[in-house]
Amino acid sequence: MNDVSARQETLKQQVAQAAVDYMDSQLKNHSIVGIGTGSTANYFIDALARIKHKFDGTVASSLASEQRLRSHGIPVYDLNVINDMQFYVDGADESNHQLELIKGGGGALTREKIVASMADQFICIVDASKMCETLGKFPLPVEVIPMARSVVTRAIVRMGGRPLYRQGFVTDNGNIILDIHDLQITQPRQLESAINNIPGVVTNGLFALKPADLIMIGTANGVETRVAR
Ligand code: A5P
Repeated sequence: MNDVSARQETLKQQVAQAAVDYMDSQLKNHSIVGIGTGSTANYFIDALARIKHKFDGTVASSLASEQRLRSHGIPVYDLNVINDMQFYVDGADESNHQLELIKGGGGALTREKIVASMADQFICIVDASKMCETLGKFPLPVEVIPMARSVVTRAIVRMGGRPLYRQGFVTDNGNIILDIHDLQITQPRQLESAINNIPGVVTNGLFALKPADLIMIGTANGVETRVAR
C-alpha cells in the first residue's frame, strides 16, 4: 500500500469511529441500525462491535456486511421483520455539497437504497477524497436484470452516457452492473428517476431523491460533520 492509500485508510477508520461515537450519544432504546457496504462500512462495523450491547441489532445491505456483523456477534435481522430504524450508516463513492451521492462501487447499491429508505437518519461516512462539486467523475453503477443488458445499454447511450458492463460481477440479487462513464450530473434527481424508468433497470447508484441527512468527512485536520448546503 502506498502512502496516499495508507492515509486514506486511516481517514476512513477515523470517520467510522466518529460515526460510532455520534450514534452512541444518540441511540434510543431498542434501536436498529442499518449497515452499508464497502471498506469504510467495514471499519464502521468493527468499531460498532464495541458498543453492540447498546442497540438491539442491525439490518445489512449485503451478504458481505452480514457476514462481518455476525463474525462480531452483532445480531442481523431480515428487513421484513423491522418496523423502525434509527440510523443507516454507509460510505459513498462521491458526494456533492447537497449530500447527493453516487454509490455502488461495491455493487450493493440496490440493497443499500432499500435499507437506507427505512432509516430516520442516513449518516454517510467518507474520507475527504469523496467530496466533489459535480457528481459523475466516478462511473455511475446501475443494477440491471441480466436479459435487459443490451436494451438498457442502448437507452443509456441515447441519454449521453457510456455504459460499461462490469465483467465477472453478479450482485447479491443475481443481476449485473453497468458502470456509466462520461456523465456530468448537474441534475441528479432527474437523472436518478430517468435511469430508474428504463425497463430492466433495478436501480441506479444515485442517492439524490433521498440524499444523506448528515455526512461525516475524514480530513487531515480531523472529522468534519456537515448537513446539506
Ligand atoms: C458499495 O456498493 C458502495 O455503495 C460503497 O458504499 C461505496 O462504494 C464506498 O465504498 P468504500 O467505503 O470502500 O470507498
